[in-house]
Amino acid sequence: MAVIDEYATSRPRSRELHMRALDHFAARGVTHVGRTWEPFGPYMTHARGSRIWDVDGHEYIDFRNGHGALILGHGHPAIVTAMQEQTARGTLYSASHEMEIEWAELIKSMVPTAERVEFFACGQEANMMGIRLARAFTGRTKVLRFEENFHGWADELADPGTPGVVGSEVRVIPMNDLSVLEKELATGEYAVVLTEGGGAHMAGQVPWESDFISAVGPLAERHGTIWLLDEVVTGFRDGPAGWGGLMKLRPDLTTFGKSVAGGLPAGILTGRADVMGMLAPGPETKRCIPHSGTWNAMPIVCAAGIAACKLLRDGSIQKQINEVGAYMRDTANQALRRSNHNWRVYGRTILHIYFGTAEFEVDDLGSPPTKDMKKLLTGSDEKRRLGVYLLHHGIHTHKGVAFILSAAHTKDDVDIAVDALLRAIRDAMADGTIGDLPS
Ligand SMILES: Cc1ncc(COP(=O)(O)O)c(C=O)c1O
Repeated sequence: MAVIDEYATSRPRSRELHMRALDHFAARGVTHVGRTWEPFGPYMTHARGSRIWDVDGHEYIDFRNGHGALILGHGHPAIVTAMQEQTARGTLYSASHEMEIEWAELIKSMVPTAERVEFFACGQEANMMGIRLARAFTGRTKVLRFEENFHGWADELADPGTPGVVGSEVRVIPMNDLSVLEKELATGEYAVVLTEGGGAHMAGQVPWESDFISAVGPLAERHGTIWLLDEVVTGFRDGPAGWGGLMKLRPDLTTFGKSVAGGLPAGILTGRADVMGMLAPGPETKRCIPHSGTWNAMPIVCAAGIAACKLLRDGSIQKQINEVGAYMRDTANQALRRSNHNWRVYGRTILHIYFGTAEFEVDDLGSPPTKDMKKLLTGSDEKRRLGVYLLHHGIHTHKGVAFILSAAHTKDDVDIAVDALLRAIRDAMADGTIGDLPS
C-alpha cells in the first residue's frame, strides 16, 4: 500500500479536515454518499476551467465536474458575470420576474416536447412532481422503474430495498427487456414509467438499446401510462434537445437539472400541457396540485440558467465536447491495449471505465464493449479504489468509474489524464489493490 500511504501523507490538511468531519457528518464524514474515498478524499478550495485545487496545494484535472452539472467548466465568464450582476440586483424576490419567462422560453426553443415548464430546487424534486402529476392525471398510483436507473433518493426514486424507503408502489424491472415491460404495462396499473436519459448511471454506463427505448413511448401510451424521461444528466449535454432529441423520442414528461442552470441548483419539469395542467388552480380546485418551493425560479439561478442556455442553444459546445470525448476514448483505449490491460473506456461526453475482458472492443460511437449489465457494472469497488490512485496522479473522477467532460477540457487535459490512468493502474496493481483480468 505504498502509494496510498504516499497519497495520505502528502495530504495532511485534508486528513485533518476528514477527521473533523467525522464528528459532524454521519455518512463517514462526507456530505454526499458519492464523495467517499478511502482513506479520505481531498478537501477542495477553488476551481477554474478544467482544474480544481485542494487545501494541500494539489492541482487536479476535474473530471467530476460538479456531478456533471458544470458542462461549461468551472467559473465560465458568462455564468460568473450573470451571477454577479444578478446578485447586486437581488438574489430572491419571492415574486414573479421576467427572467423566469425568458429561461422557460429558451428551454422551450430547444426541447420540442416542452409545452409547459416548471422550476424546482433540484432534479429529484422535478422527478417527484412528475410522478405526482402522472398519478393525478391517470388516477393510478403505481410507478414502474428500471434496474440501476438513478433518479434521486426520495421514496419513489430510491431503490425500494433501501432502509427507510417506502417503495410499495414501485416496481423495478430489468432494462432492455421488452416482454417484461409489456407485461407490466398491460396490467393497466401504472401511472408512470421512468427512464434515465442515455441509460443507467450518468448518461449510460449501461445504455438503452435503441429498439427498446423507441418502444417505451408507444407501449406506455397504449396502456395509459405516462412516460417520464429523466434528462437531469443528459439534458443539454447530449445536444440542445438532450438525449431524447438525439434519439427522436417523444416522452410525455421530461426532467432536467445540472447543465440547464449553468451549474447552479435547479430542476426543471417539462412536458404535455394537459398533464402539467393538473397544477392549475381552477373551478375544480380539488384536482389542483399545489407546487410550492422557496427556491423555485430563484433569480440568481435563472440568470445563470439563461446565460448557460444561450451558450448551449446552437449545439456547438456539445459538438466540441463530443470531439474531445471521442479523442479521449481513442487515446485511452489505444494506451490500454498497448499496455495489455483488459480495461476499456466508452461513452460520449461522459466516459465510463469498463473493467473486464479484452474480448470486447469499443466501437467508434462510444457504445460499450458489451450489452451485459453485470459485466458493465463489474469491478465498482476496484474502480473506486483506482479513483484514489487517479487522485494521487492529479485526476479527480466521478467515483473512479467515469470521466465527465466539460467545454473547458482540452485534448492536452486528456493526454495528461490517459497517462495518469496508466500510472494509476500500474500503482494500484503494484500495491495489490486491484488485479487485472488475463488477456
Ligand atoms: C439521472 C438523474 N436524475 C436525477 C438526479 C437527481 O438530481 P438532483 O441531485 O439535482 O436532485 C440525478 C443526480 O445525479 C441524476 O443523475
